[in-house]
Parts: sequence; C-alpha cells; structure tokens
Amino acid sequence: PPGPLVDGFGRVARDLRVSLTDRCDLRCSYCLPAEGLPWLPRDDVLTDDEVVRLVRVAVERLGVREVRFTGGEPLLRRGLEGVVAATAALRRADGTPTATSLTTNALGLDRRARALAAAGLGRVNVSLDTLQPDRYARITRRDRLRHALAGLAAARDAGLVPVKVNAVLLRGVNDDEAVPLLRWALAEGYRLRFIEEMPLGPAGAWDPAQVVRAEEILDRLRSAFTLRPVDPGRRGSDPARSWTVDGADPDGPGVVGVIASVTQPFCGACDRVRLTADGRVRSCLFGEDDADLRALLRSGADDDAVASAWAGAVARKGPGHAAGTLTPASASRTMSAIGG
Ligand code: GTP
Ligand code: 5AD
Ligand code: SF4
Repeated sequence: PPGPLVDGFGRVARDLRVSLTDRCDLRCSYCLPAEGLPWLPRDDVLTDDEVVRLVRVAVERLGVREVRFTGGEPLLRRGLEGVVAATAALRRADGTPTATSLTTNALGLDRRARALAAAGLGRVNVSLDTLQPDRYARITRRDRLRHALAGLAAARDAGLVPVKVNAVLLRGVNDDEAVPLLRWALAEGYRLRFIEEMPLGPAGAWDPAQVVRAEEILDRLRSAFTLRPVDPGRRGSDPARSWTVDGADPDGPGVVGVIASVTQPFCGACDRVRLTADGRVRSCLFGEDDADLRALLRSGADDDAVASAWAGAVARKGPGHAAGTLTPASASRTMSAIGG
C-alpha cells in the first residue's frame, strides 16, 4: 500500500484537515471580502459519501491519525453529524480509533453540540476575536456575538473539550483585548490561542507592518499575568507555543498559546495535509492545489488509485515559508477556501 504520506523533506502528514464547504455565514475581514466570493457550485463540492470515502482511504491506507473538519464554516453542512460518525468509526491498521475535531465559528453549535458529541466528535476549536458586540460586528460583518458565545458554552457543556478559542488580533481594532480575552477564557474554561494574521484574506487586507506579532501579544499578557513556557514535548508539530498562566493547572484551562505563523513559522515540523471542499489535495496553506481526487472518484477509480494520487501530491509538497518571506499575495486561495 502507498502510505504513509511522506514529503521530499522527510515530513510525514498524519493530521488531515478536511474543508467541508467554502461558504461561511460570517465575513471576517482577514478571511473574506464583504460581498463573499464566487462560491463553488454545489455539484463541485464533495458529497458526504465522497468525503467519507476519502477520509477512509487516508486513515486505512495513508497513516492519517487525526481528522479535523473545517470550512468555510463546517456547520453549514447538514450532513456533518453523519460524516463525523462515519469518521469516528474508522480504525487504523493497528485498530486505533481516529481522533476527530472541528474548527468553527460556533454559530449554530448551541443546537448541535450534543448531537456532534454523540456522533463521536472529540473536540472543537472556535474562532472568536473579541468580546465586544460592536467589534464582533465590525470584524465579522455580522452582529452575532451572543450566538457565538452560546455555541461555545454548548460545546464545553457537551464535553467537546478542551475547547480552544482562536483569536486574531487586528491593530487598531481589537489589539487591546489580549488581557480581557485571557481573563474571560480562564474564567470560562476555554484554552485561548492568539494567531498572527496571515495573508490569507482578500487582496489588500494584510500589511506585514500591521501584524500584531507574538512578542507584542506576550508583552501585553505579561502586564497582567505571569507566564511560564510549556515544554513543547509531546507534539512538536503543534502550531502553538504555550504558556501556563501563573498558578493554573498545566493540563487544565490555565494555558495560553500563540500561533506565530508569520514571525516564527513552523513549516519544518508540519504534519498536515488538507483536502479542499472540491476534493483537491492541498499540502500547504501557501502552496497550490494538487491532485484532483474528486475527478478520480467520479471516474470510478479504486482506493489504490486514490491513495497513490494522494501520496504523489504530498511527495511534491514544498518546504513552506520562512519568517519575513510572506507577502500580501502569498496564498492562491483565501482561508475560507482552504480551511485554515
Ligand atoms: P489543534 O489540533 O487544536 O492544535 O488544531 P489546529 O491549531 O491545527 O487547528 P485550527 O483549525 O484551530 O488552526 C488554528 C490556526 O493554526 C490556523 O488558523 C492557522 O493560523 C494555524 N495553522 C494551522 N495549520 C497551519 C499550517 O499548516 N500552516 C500554518 N502556517 N498555519 C497553520
Ligand atoms: N490569518 C490568521 N488566521 C486566520 N484565520 C482565518 N483567516 C486568517 C488569517 N488571514 C483563522 C480563523 C480560524 C482559523 C482556522 O483560521 O480565525 O480560527
Ligand atoms: Fe468564516 Fe472562519 Fe473565514 Fe471568519 S475566518 S469568515 S468564520 S471561514
């Protein structure tokens, strides 16, 4: 059999991120233009059965250990619970179950968290950049903060833990919220991570000089908290560097992370492979779409052919980027179309 998914730099892809749709019900300024994008036609998007077949090939033949569903907004897929259940039921060759997770804006999670947990979903990461309703409406261009907060609480209460919160700080918009966001996350039991803004949004949205950098975020946090670095230990490919917040349990919610994709890229330890909503393999956020697995599926290819095409695409994966080399035009699709 073809697996595992090894690239030309010796990295092994174990972490699959599946984008279930390129659509979203928010319009975050760093991700989508206000008017949206020319969305994929429905027929171009993989069906639930096609998604499950590709995930099965990845887990059974290609050494994938974790499957994260992303978007756009994955909750816009009605069949999400079924796709999660089918994925959670997959076993690797050695019998180990598949870890599943979801990256979401949490809108609608208040009604679906329990069903997703029952379907076998492991945990969720929620995008939330501010606790102020007017700022939420400015950043996402939708007035939905209360609904997002309800979704977050429902995820925690349904046991989809640890619930991680991803916050992008934007200069002049919410860059004064590092401390309030951390206070809130600690009180609510969410694991907060700050993400440096990357050039993955609409043209003109990203200016390297305006990025709120990891060091600046940490300085702001240190004005109110004592931070102690957590040994990366277990998982060198974790995009976040983490700190415990003084007095807090390192395995509990008392941890804060920073994903410094711009100033401290972690491409050398990358263990990710992505599948776009239209069935292309995309090995890197800043790469190009590669193998068209949807075309293979729809032409009647067998699992071996699909697995070989997938392995070939990963073998061609590029090295990634170095600090200071990203430009406003580094990505060929926006985040919403790649799935973060
Ligand atoms: P965990 O398993 O919970 O650590 O998930 P995750 O952090 O991989 O998933 P999530 O969808 O929450 O991603 C958070 C952020 O990490 C994304 O917005 C990106 O900014 C960053 N990220 C994830 N994968 C990559 C990657 O392959 N390259 C880069 N540069 N950034 C990534
Ligand atoms: N830069 C950094 N993070 C981004 N996200 C979306 N667009 C960008 C960007 N341009 C984040 C979202 C979500 C995660 C998957 O990606 O906030 O939490
Ligand atoms: Fe939607 Fe996520 Fe993009 Fe915001 S970052 S517009 S929630 S896909």
